[in-house]
Amino acid sequence: MHPLRDSLRPLASLAATPPPFDPTVAPENPLELFVAWFGQAVEAGQLEPHAMTLSTVDADGVPDARVLILKDLTDDGWWFASSSASVKGVELTANPVAALTFYWPTVGRSVRIRGAVTRGSDDENARDFSRRGLGARAVALGSPQSKPLGSRDESEAAIEKAARELDAHPELVSPTWTLWCVRPSTVEFWQSDAERRHQRLRYSSQGQSWSTTLLWP
Ligand SMILES: Cc1cc2nc3c(=O)[nH]c(=O)nc-3n(C[C@H](O)[C@H](O)[C@H](O)COP(=O)(O)O)c2cc1C
Repeated sequence: MHPLRDSLRPLASLAATPPPFDPTVAPENPLELFVAWFGQAVEAGQLEPHAMTLSTVDADGVPDARVLILKDLTDDGWWFASSSASVKGVELTANPVAALTFYWPTVGRSVRIRGAVTRGSDDENARDFSRRGLGARAVALGSPQSKPLGSRDESEAAIEKAARELDAHPELVSPTWTLWCVRPSTVEFWQSDAERRHQRLRYSSQGQSWSTTLLWP
C-alpha cells in the first residue's frame, strides 16, 4: 500500500502560465538568458529563486545531490560556497564536475547547468568568509559539516566556542570555507506548457561561442 498515492494524484503541477519565450530569438549567450529568466522569476514572486540543486558524483560514480544557494554568476559561471571538508567538498575535490538545477514553479521554468568545477583562490575564499555575519562564520568555523553529530548540545557548544574565538580574533577564517564555480559546458532552459508541449533549448559550449539545439520535451 502507498498511503501517499491518493494525496499525490489531485496535486496540481506546472500550474503557472510562463512568460512568453521564443527560442528562435534567444540570446547567443546562455548567461544572458539565465539573468533574464532569473529576473522574471523574482518579478513573479518566486520564493528563494537563488536556491538550486547541486549534483555531484562520489568516488564510486554514485550520484549525490543537495540544495544550495547561488552566490554569484560571472563570465566564469555559477558560484556557490561550502566547506571543502563536507561530503560535496570531498566529492568535488576528487571529481570536479557537477550539475546545477533551478526550478521556478511560479513561472513554470527550470534551468539545468553541467560543467567542470573550479575553486576560488585562498584570497577569494577568505574575503567571502569575512563578509558573512558572525553567526554564519561561527557555524562555518565550529562545524565539521556532514560529519556525524552526537547531540544538539555538542554542536551548540562548538558553535559558541567558535563565536568566542571570532570575537577575540575577528580576522579568523575557516580553513575549509570554499567558493566553487561551475563552468558551464551545457545550459538547458525548460519552459512548461499547459498542454505538456514544453519547450527545451540547450546551449553547448564551443569554446568562445555557444551552439543551440531544441530538444523534444
Ligand atoms: C535552501 C537551502 C539552501 C542551502 N544553502 C547552502 C549553502 O549555500 N551552502 C551549504 O554548504 N549548504 C547549504 N544548504 C545545506 C545543504 O543542502 C546540505 O545539507 C549541506 O551543504 C551538506 O551537504 P553535503 O553533506 O552533501 O556536503 C542549504 C540547504 C537549503 C535547503
